[in-house]
Amino acid sequence: MNQKFANDIQSGLSATQKSIPYIYFYNERGSWLFQQIMQLPEYYLTACEICILDTYKGKLLEYFQAKKKGFNLVDLGAGDASKTKILLQDYVEKGVPFTYTPVDLSTSILSALSESLDAAYPDLKHQAMNKEYWDAMEILKDNTPKSERKVVLFLGANIGNFTYEESVDFLTTLKSYLNPGDQVLIGFDLKKRPEIIYKAYLDSKGITAAFNLNLLHRINQELGGNFKPNYFRFYPYYNPQTGELRSHLVSQKDQTVTIDALNMEVKFEQWESIHTEISKKHTIKEIESLATAAGFTIKEHFLDNKAYFVDTLLEI
Ligand SMILES: C[S@@+](CC[C@H](N)C(=O)[O-])C[C@H]1O[C@@H](n2cnc3c(N)ncnc32)[C@H](O)[C@@H]1O
Repeated sequence: MNQKFANDIQSGLSATQKSIPYIYFYNERGSWLFQQIMQLPEYYLTACEICILDTYKGKLLEYFQAKKKGFNLVDLGAGDASKTKILLQDYVEKGVPFTYTPVDLSTSILSALSESLDAAYPDLKHQAMNKEYWDAMEILKDNTPKSERKVVLFLGANIGNFTYEESVDFLTTLKSYLNPGDQVLIGFDLKKRPEIIYKAYLDSKGITAAFNLNLLHRINQELGGNFKPNYFRFYPYYNPQTGELRSHLVSQKDQTVTIDALNMEVKFEQWESIHTEISKKHTIKEIESLATAAGFTIKEHFLDNKAYFVDTLLEI
C-alpha cells in the first residue's frame, strides 16, 4: 500500500470540505485519460502551447545557450512530453549539445516516454527520473556541472494547480535548487472569455469527468474502498475574479462509503462535494508579480496567436 496516498486520502476525506489532492489523478488510467483530454478540441491549452513552442523554439534555444556550454532540460511533470518533443526534435536535428531529464511521479507514462525517446531520437542523451519534483531537484542540484545551465520546463499549465500563494512558494523552493544563470520556462493559462475556459473542462465527451471520477476508482482499487462513482457528478466552476476553475465531485445522494485499508467510513450528504483540483488562469501582471515575489527575472513572455496562453522564461 502507498502510505502517503493512504494518509492523504484519510485526511482529505475527514476535512469539513472534503478533498483529494490532484497529484493522485495520474495512475496508469489517469495518465491515459489526460492524454485524451489534451486531444480534445475544446481543451485549447494544448494547441496554444504547441503554437508557442513551434514558433519560438529557435528564440528559446538562443536563451538556453547564452553564455553557457550546454544545458540540461529538466521537464518537471513531463507526462508524455508530446509538446516538449517539438523542442527535442529541433535541437537534435541541429546537433545541439544538451541532456533531457523528464521527471514524473507516474511510472507508466515515464517508461512509455523513455521507450519513445530511444526509438525517435537514438542520439539524444536522456535520463528519466521517476520521482517527486523536489526529490529529483535535490539530486540534480549537485549533479549538473557549473558550466552547464539547468533549464527547468514546467509546461501544460501545471502551475495552475496552485493558488497564487502556493505558486510563490513553489517558485521560491524551485529557486533554492538552482544556480545563477539557470532558467525556468513556465506555461501559464491566461484569463479569457469565461465560456471558453468552462467548456475546456466540461467537455462534450465527458473525458474530464472520467478523469476526476477515476480518483474514486483508484481509492477502490488501492485502498479497498466501495465508492460507486456513478453516485457522484463532476462539476467544474470558474470564478473570473480569482481566475480559479475549481473541480468538484458532487454526491448525488446521502450515502456512506467504507474504505477498508483506512478502517474508515465516510458519510456524504446529498449535494456535498469533494474538491479535486484548481486550474488557475492568470494575467501577465500577476505572472510578473509572482516572478518578482519569488526572486526571478523575466526574460520574455511567449504568447500564442490568440493570446490565450503564455510560456514565460525566467532566470535567476
Ligand atoms: C497536467 S500533466 C502535464 C504533462 C506535460 N507537462 C504537458 O504539458 O503535457 C501533469 C504531470 O505532472 C505529474 N506530476 C504532478 N505532480 C507531480 C509531482 N509532485 N512530482 C512529479 N510529477 C508530478 C503527473 O504525473 C502528470 O504526468
